[in-house]
Order: sequence, then C-alpha cells, then structure tokens
Amino acid sequence: MKTDLHKLPIILKPFILFLFVSLSVLAFLSLQTPHQIPAKTTTAAAADDAAEENLPSDLKIRPGYTSYEEYLQRQLNKTLNPKLREIWTTRDWDRKVRVFSDFFANLKQRELLSNGSKSLCIGARVGQEVAALKRVGVSDSVGIDLVPYPPLVVKGDFHKQPFGDGIFDFEFSNVFDHALYPWKFVGEIERTLKSGGVCVLHVLLSRRADKYSANDLYSVKPLEKLFKNSELVELRGIDGFGLDTEVVFRKN
Ligand SMILES: *[C@@H]1O[C@H](CO)[C@@H](O)[C@H](O)[C@H]1NC(C)=O
Ligand SMILES: *[C@@H]1O[C@H](CO)[C@@H](O)[C@H](O)[C@H]1NC(C)=O
Repeated sequence: MKTDLHKLPIILKPFILFLFVSLSVLAFLSLQTPHQIPAKTTTAAAADDAAEENLPSDLKIRPGYTSYEEYLQRQLNKTLNPKLREIWTTRDWDRKVRVFSDFFANLKQRELLSNGSKSLCIGARVGQEVAALKRVGVSDSVGIDLVPYPPLVVKGDFHKQPFGDGIFDFEFSNVFDHALYPWKFVGEIERTLKSGGVCVLHVLLSRRADKYSANDLYSVKPLEKLFKNSELVELRGIDGFGLDTEVVFRKN
C-alpha cells in the first residue's frame, strides 16, 4: 500500500488522506450511536424484544422498565396505595358501578353480552366492573388483578391469566395501556375466550394516558393486528373514566 501510494500523482495524496479521515470519523460516529434495545439475559426476554420490534407503529411500549419485576413493582405501587384503595371502595364505588352498569346494559341491548355470559374483568382492582356486571344480571362474573379483592377479584396477572382455554363468553378491560407485553395481554384473552366469545376494551386514543401506563396506543389498527383470531365487530366513542373508545372483538 505504502509503495503504491508513492507512485500516485502528488495531487491525489490529499484526497486519499481526506477519504481516510472521513471514513474514520464515520466509523467512530456509528460506534457512538446509542442502542435502543436494553441488554436482556433470558431467551424469554429476547422473544419479547422480537415481538416488541414487530409491533405496529401506532403502538409504542414506554421505555424505562429494565425488568418485568420492576414493572410489577410499579403497578403494585398504585394498586396497593392505601389512600387510593380507600377511595376506590368508598367515595368512588357507587359512581363507578353506575357508569359500568350503563356500559354493560348497553352491550346487552346490542346482544354482545347476556345474563348467561360467563364473564371476566381484566385488571379489575377492587371490582367495580364485576359488581356492575352482577347488577345488570350477569351473575357468573369475576375479576383478576395482581392484588385480589375477594370475592369479586381473584389474584391474576393479565400477561398470564390463571384460567384454562376457552372458558369465558365475555371479557372486559379498561387497562390495555397497563400492558407491558400487549401481545401477551391479547393472546391470553383469545386463549381463554370461547369461540364466538366477545372481548370489549375501553382504550384511550386521543391523548396520552397516565404515568402508570406501559404503552401508548395511537389508533385501533394495532389491536386489529394483535387480535389474530378475532374480528373487530364494533367501534364507538365513549366517555369512560378518561377513556374515549370502546372496541369490540369477537373470537372466531
Ligand atoms: C411507590 O410509591 C411511593 C409513594 O407512594 C414512592 O415513594 C415510591 O418511590 C414508589 N416506588 C416505586 C418503585 O415506584
Ligand atoms: C337478566 O337479569 C336481570 C337482573 O337480574 C333481570 O332483570 C332480567 O330480566 C334478566 N334478563 C333475562 C333476559 O333473563
């Protein structure tokens, strides 16, 4: 190389030097670019990274959780907050049960829910939605949350529901934004719903949700992608405790 360089016309030498310096700077810069994907150790985490990379662009997982344990800790922090629990079970109770009852009565009128539907409320906290289902006549209803609130809510993680396959006629949730792994949240719903079963989600599309949210949804399209074995059957605007859209899927 050195001997070749000596043979080059004198005018080319500065050019080759310039080229060499430019390439070095480019190589240096490419090494400095921060890598977005945090290092994870287990293969399950690697699979989650792959699933996350394949998410539609209208659904973003919030950065900042370094592990599932940290995410659970953060969720539990709100769920276990004694002041909030006191409010949820007293001052909030009647108003919430009334509003949920109206939503469920409406779903019954649209024949998406009936008294005989075996029903599950996902991320139900103290279970106001479960109480509402019972109030409108859907007696076989239960909720799950990380912290149980018997008898309405049993312990269960929506990323891994504590139920067998194909047992519910109806599932409701207004906590989709809390899912760190939305594909698991939806996958578990499709697993535990019967064929022909109905899932109703209340979501927020027009604004960003609260600091406990783990994802941000910008349109209904990502849901249509995630519900692989279901059809979108209804979509309407609502006013539901800060959430603005009711999405209804029916499992094939
Ligand atoms: C949990 O909440 C308390 C206040 O209620 C706060 O001081 C603490 O930092 C929170 N911890 C986490 C992990 O968010
Ligand atoms: C459903 O249950 C409610 C409340 O118990 C009752 O008023 C209603 O008549 C029932 N509907 C049917 C179709 O049985």
